[in-house]
Amino acid sequence: MDLKTLDSAFVAPTYRRFPLEIVSGSGSVVFDEKGSRYIDLTSGIGVTAFGVADPVWQEAVTAQIGLVQHMSNLYYTAPCAKLAALLCEKTGFEKVFFSNSGAEANECAIKVARKYAADNYGSDRFTIATLDGSFHGRTLTTLAATGQEHYHELFQPLTPGFIHIPPTMDALKAAAKEHKLAALMIECIQGEGGVIDLPQDFVRQARAFTEENDILLICDEVQTGNGRTGALYAYMHYGITPDVVSTAKGLAGGLPLGATLLSEKVQHTLGYGDHGSTFGGNPVCCAAALSVLQRIDDALLTDVRTKSDRLRAAFEGADGIVSVSGMGLMLGLKTVKPASEIVASLLDRGVLCLTAKDKVRLLPALNIPLELLLEAAETIKDVCRVSA
Ligand SMILES: Cc1ncc(COP(=O)(O)O)c(C=O)c1O
Repeated sequence: MDLKTLDSAFVAPTYRRFPLEIVSGSGSVVFDEKGSRYIDLTSGIGVTAFGVADPVWQEAVTAQIGLVQHMSNLYYTAPCAKLAALLCEKTGFEKVFFSNSGAEANECAIKVARKYAADNYGSDRFTIATLDGSFHGRTLTTLAATGQEHYHELFQPLTPGFIHIPPTMDALKAAAKEHKLAALMIECIQGEGGVIDLPQDFVRQARAFTEENDILLICDEVQTGNGRTGALYAYMHYGITPDVVSTAKGLAGGLPLGATLLSEKVQHTLGYGDHGSTFGGNPVCCAAALSVLQRIDDALLTDVRTKSDRLRAAFEGADGIVSVSGMGLMLGLKTVKPASEIVASLLDRGVLCLTAKDKVRLLPALNIPLELLLEAAETIKDVCRVSA
């Protein structure tokens, strides 16, 4: 049985796969089973922060595997504690809860918000506002948080206590009047929603308003976090500090790890037995994340911003490319031809890209060489071209 037949026969059919099997790679170049080369601008949807089979990452992972691959959270392990300390040192947050995915990092953030509000204002203050077009995960609660109706339809009833609003101060103030809000949860750049940057004014004013009213501000940095946008976390571009940050994807560079960062205000909200995860804080995942986080320094962030500028310059005025959104190496191209058609053509031309709603989405590894990025940009421009 060939791989495609085997996969279709036994893997639950929730993913529409491209006709491509990736068997190996190095950095931002990957190879299929026939040895054909592809430039990877997807990094496993923003996960392999330093590309495929990165030697530094491999060394960190294999060294920890040789010591202890897992130990329950009943005991101390060094990578978990060291990673939490480094995350706090780099952000100014006070505590970290580790889980295994973005959705779980958000689940923790939501539990913190619900408990903080109940502890301080009573059990009728529980509503969490999120934004239209947002995406926060696939569990029933994070689906409820997700501000896109079509994800909700098949799975009713979802967790109650979520409302979705447009990103305007009028809408936020009206929501706070009508509901007892525990939290506002935002992605500074909506990823799955179409690579949409939230307006600077809205984010700043929303932070001021939530602070005044002791409504927690949760930034979902699952996709935007860990250097992706040219800052360690995207909220840093907005000059604000949230109360809670959730992250995952690129954090461990290719192993499953979610983290929820807790500010001083909420650092003690969850106590013994209030939350947990068998695999959360796994030593191999944390060792991988330590090596990733240690490499996301100012020089790397500057390099991400420089590569972003070069890419934007390459797309500026290109035939068939209407506009470019996003920040750093999280970019969305609005194209004249349908995004799905472009991504399919790019695959035939040896470039892997993603879609996000009606846009072509680029999420390359943070350390992708500039020449490779510009080589891919030329192919993208060629495929996007509409005039003969
Ligand atoms: C902003 C955001 N939040 C949450 C999630 C869910 O993350 P995971 O698939 O790791 O559960 C995603 C995934 O794309 C995301 O982009």
